[in-house]
Amino acid sequence: MSLPASVMVAPPGWRERIDRWLTDPRLYRWALGNPVGRWITRRRAERLFGLMAGFVHSQVLLGCVRLGLLQAVFERPQTLAELAQRSRMDPDALERLLASAVALQLMDARSGDRFGLGPLGAPLVAHEGLRAMVEHNALLYEDLRDPLSLLHAPEQTSMHAYWPYAAREQQLRQHRQSAEQVARYSHLMASSQRFLIEELRASYPFEQHRRVLDVGGGQGGWVSELARHAPGLQIDLFDLPPVAALAREKIAQAGLAARITVHGGSFITDALPRGADLVTLLRVAHDHSDEVVRQLLAAIHAALEPGGALLLAEPMAQADGRPAAADAYYHFYLRAMGEGRLRTVARLQALMAEAGFERIERLPNPLSLHACLVRGRKPGAA
Ligand SMILES: C[S@@+](CC[C@H](N)C(=O)[O-])C[C@H]1O[C@@H](n2cnc3c(N)ncnc32)[C@H](O)[C@@H]1O
Repeated sequence: MSLPASVMVAPPGWRERIDRWLTDPRLYRWALGNPVGRWITRRRAERLFGLMAGFVHSQVLLGCVRLGLLQAVFERPQTLAELAQRSRMDPDALERLLASAVALQLMDARSGDRFGLGPLGAPLVAHEGLRAMVEHNALLYEDLRDPLSLLHAPEQTSMHAYWPYAAREQQLRQHRQSAEQVARYSHLMASSQRFLIEELRASYPFEQHRRVLDVGGGQGGWVSELARHAPGLQIDLFDLPPVAALAREKIAQAGLAARITVHGGSFITDALPRGADLVTLLRVAHDHSDEVVRQLLAAIHAALEPGGALLLAEPMAQADGRPAAADAYYHFYLRAMGEGRLRTVARLQALMAEAGFERIERLPNPLSLHACLVRGRKPGAA
């Protein structure tokens, strides 16, 4: 008599036999007793400890950023007593934070019992955008206190309220955002955009184009850089009306109003301005569902000149050269935010092909941790 399918268990394959061998307590004991086994076990234990302790590490970073400790020791190395007085902290408590910061290479120990800037602290001092992201992540980590409820009910997260345009109901109906909400996220984006701008400038010859449209361009940091860097270009920016109003103000303050035209509208309901031979789409597609990305790519395709190109830049999953662990951050971040998702290069290429783009290719860039670049062309003569 044959067993019903539900109770038939396939015999373990070689991978499963390795799993059992790896979890056998006798292997652990044996591995500790010889140099190669010890080396492998130590590396694995350290990596796993890193996963378990990751939250503590993020909180050490947040503590240092909130107290302005990294800037303080950058100005001049200081003792515990000096830093405690400056931050109005109990020295015994602060010492634990400082010792943790040294262990994580945010700070280092200098002569005379002073604390100085560590190798991982230096970029945080150099980039205001990084400090802003550390502070912003505190919101995500509050939502992540219970990772399963975040996965089950993302609409209840604080991140969801932070990013009003990313919610399903907002995407499909008219956008309702308070001026304060818009200014808050637009400022964060502007301050964290610096790294992306460096990637774009190092990787793409923008001067070969005539007219560039930046869709979802935020406060206009990227288009302002482009206007200065490529004086021959005509430039347009498109974003939701309240963001466009902020961009107009910033661009005028930078003296670039004659070079950049700002358009307010939603790419879900409004047509995009026509005439560009290059559209840039930076950190926008990953905020949205496939349904909205399809609409957006179709709108870009319709707006582009024949032979024109779309350059899409954002973090992409499983991309060569990107630390795989970074994907976990974006999977959760985008879930907490709303309907967006981290997509692979292949998935984005497929969505672009569906919208009618061809000759779609990934372009190399120096630091794919910040973003990967994919370009596709609208058929026709340039
Ligand atoms: C994550 S931010 C990226 C901003 C900028 N490209 C950057 O990289 O810093 C996404 C931008 O898309 C804009 N956006 C979202 N939904 C939109 C819509 N339906 N129409 C136009 N812009 C939209 C937002 O207002 C925001 O400025």
